[in-house]
Amino acid sequence: MKYLAASTLLLKATALAGPILEARQQTPAVFTGVSSFRGQGCEGATVTYDSINQVATVTYPNYGVVIPSGPREESCSTTLQVRFPVGQCTSGTAFGTATGTVNVPSGVTAFFSARDYAIQPTIGQITDVSPNGQWAGPRSEDYTLQDNIGFTLTPPNAQNNLVNFTVFGDLSLQPQNGPVGSLTNRQFVFDIRTQIPC
Ligand SMILES: *[C@@H]1O[C@H](CO)[C@@H](O)[C@H](O)[C@H]1NC(C)=O
Repeated sequence: MKYLAASTLLLKATALAGPILEARQQTPAVFTGVSSFRGQGCEGATVTYDSINQVATVTYPNYGVVIPSGPREESCSTTLQVRFPVGQCTSGTAFGTATGTVNVPSGVTAFFSARDYAIQPTIGQITDVSPNGQWAGPRSEDYTLQDNIGFTLTPPNAQNNLVNFTVFGDLSLQPQNGPVGSLTNRQFVFDIRTQIPC
């Protein structure tokens, strides 16, 4: 009975909100499920998506550097493809979150560098803020690096509504002949849920 009453209320609310809902009901940008990995650090990487295809979670089982045994430098570029609605401008902010572990003794510095995004094709406006990671030992902790990619895209035709977001990255330790140390990137989450029609 309670449930019935609640749904009746909901129906009424929906009827009232009709015109507003309609205005907001535009096709969202979603991950297509096509992703590619390049670089030794990407070996064995897998990606999963949430139920609405707007959050991609990439897991890297082998993206790490370690001294003195190596590998001492590893790169990985991950491409996630997003399908934007044709003929509709979409504006929003994509959030990238990289997590891993750093473990370096005094005298060793860990670097997670070249953390840049490439967006192809280059349509619309992109503002990319992706800080590099740098940790001077002694440090032993789980870390989180957060990216922020503002975009306004107007895919003009069916040929280029597929947009690749490629994030680069390079892990290294200096000096490479230092005492025991390591740096890993275990996971990268890319979240495109924040979208507004423009
Ligand atoms: C996007 O990535 C896919 C998969 O790697 C590739 O086939 C396609 O050519 C890329 N598109 C552009 C515009 O770079």
